[in-house]
Amino acid sequence: LPEADRPNLHHWLHSLDTCPSTNSWAIARAAQLNHGDAVFTKRQTSGRGQHGRTWHAPTGVLTVSFVLDNLNPNLLPGLSLAAGLAVIYAIEDLVPDCRDMLRLKWPNDVWIDRHKLAGILCEATSGNVFGKTRAVVGIGLNRCVDFAAAGLDERDLGNAVSLHSIASTVPDELCLVDRLRHYLLELADMFSTTDKPASKSGLALLLPELRRRDALIGCPVAIELASETICGEAAGIDGCGRLLICLAGDRIQAFTSGRVRLI
Ligand code: BTN
Repeated sequence: LPEADRPNLHHWLHSLDTCPSTNSWAIARAAQLNHGDAVFTKRQTSGRGQHGRTWHAPTGVLTVSFVLDNLNPNLLPGLSLAAGLAVIYAIEDLVPDCRDMLRLKWPNDVWIDRHKLAGILCEATSGNVFGKTRAVVGIGLNRCVDFAAAGLDERDLGNAVSLHSIASTVPDELCLVDRLRHYLLELADMFSTTDKPASKSGLALLLPELRRRDALIGCPVAIELASETICGEAAGIDGCGRLLICLAGDRIQAFTSGRVRLI
């Protein structure tokens, strides 16, 4: 069937021709959306990125946002790292060439070979209709992007790389959305309000995997804070999702936010 005539196969999928920002769309429709719903568009015209930046999505970027409900507010700081793992697992399922090549760049990028393949914007909202804590997890994945044709230098997009340039086959967009949802729902369960011991909730069970996938660990880095830039060696991620940096004198400091780069 031509795309326009295809039925919406999934009750959870909201597929839009064009949309300013899938995250904003989902946040504005709190009452109409449920846990596990996804908002997808082929043309996002006014995307939002980390640190309040605009996020430009040329043709070929997969732009999608997922709604996750009943989250434990105390665990939210680790959610975007867990979402990064979901992105890695979804791609690896569908693109075997990428297996073991994808890395997490704290706090919310997925890298391959030190190039950005995907960015994540997790936003907590005031709640769904029942007042439960909700997060909208937005993912921009460079699926099949011709940066030159889009008039962009890949450096404009933060040293970006497109999946099609490194993989022998590129999965269908909706297959990717489906796999992303599968893993996000699985990981969201670890961040839910249901009573679980601390050792089994949030990032606790994911720490070995975070360590294995950490793009920065052991590397010299600089983290830009509001009033200063701090340099040291990345020493991993803790159970609260904080970046650990080893400073002069072997002192380890934990950072909750900031823009970090390799030096
Ligand atoms: C970043 O790298 O700064 C995060 C980028 C997140 C972009 C995605 S695209 C889908 C969703 N909708 C948005 O407006 N932003 C996110």
